[in-house]
Amino acid sequence: MASGSNLLETVSVTMRFGGLTALDDVTYTIKEREVRGIIGPNGAGKTTLFNVITGELQPTSGKIFLRGEEITHLTPHIICQKGLSRTFQLTFIFPEMTVYESIWVGVNSRAKRPWNPVTLAHHVADLSQKTQEICHLVGLKEKMNELASNLSYGDQKILEIGMAISTQPSVLLLDEPTQGVSPKETDNILEVVERLSKKMTIILIEHSMDVVLRLCHIITVLNEGRVIAEGSPDEISKNEEVQRIYLGEIS
Ligand SMILES: Nc1ncnc2c1ncn2[C@@H]1O[C@H](COP(=O)(O)OP(=O)(O)O)[C@@H](O)[C@H]1O
Ligand SMILES: [Mg+2]
Repeated sequence: MASGSNLLETVSVTMRFGGLTALDDVTYTIKEREVRGIIGPNGAGKTTLFNVITGELQPTSGKIFLRGEEITHLTPHIICQKGLSRTFQLTFIFPEMTVYESIWVGVNSRAKRPWNPVTLAHHVADLSQKTQEICHLVGLKEKMNELASNLSYGDQKILEIGMAISTQPSVLLLDEPTQGVSPKETDNILEVVERLSKKMTIILIEHSMDVVLRLCHIITVLNEGRVIAEGSPDEISKNEEVQRIYLGEIS
């Protein structure tokens, strides 16, 4: 059953790929303005959870609700319009577009175009201002006219985050935004995520436990498709099963 007070909710979601169960009966709820972390070893099902939430994959069973409305069988495009926006583990940008253009596209897609020509000029100015605000928010204002392909890898990841928030989502889903990025650029990305975390609802998938412990209010631990722990940074860092899984992974 969906509860009206939850912003996003998965109810007993299972995802099987042939004989492999990538998600096993996952019930997950998130409220407005929460900053949530999802951690777990490689192959735990983290990206698959995002894929079923955003409609890229249809779950084998279970249901997904956004503000109490079932979205399980809707297309990714419609789900995005309803307010879910994501980044991908592998970077997804338009190399031939500038930073400004890449963000403008999303801002424009959300704007209501006036039919009255007198207000059209205001409308265009408004789009431009919103686009610049987002460039500023993610720290790319100085690089607004750069082609996306000319950005460093870390800045491309930041641009992807800017593109994701350009549609003004109710929930922002970030899939390992620091993966493959140098330590210095990792700090830049985390700074952007931290800034956004003060303004919107976020679900952050991260491989690094330190990062989620620092940024997130509640952390969910997935292992082999199952939620094995959920709690505050303090609870999670003290959880013995979580410690065992993470230490086991390193050794
Ligand atoms: N489209 C797919 N087809 C088949 N198997 C998949 C697919 N996507 C993910 N898997 C498998 O599901 C499991 C969970 O993957 P994934 O969600 O990517 O894990 P994580 O993001 O936690 O590393 C893995 O064993 C992976 O190989
Ligand atoms: Mg993944």
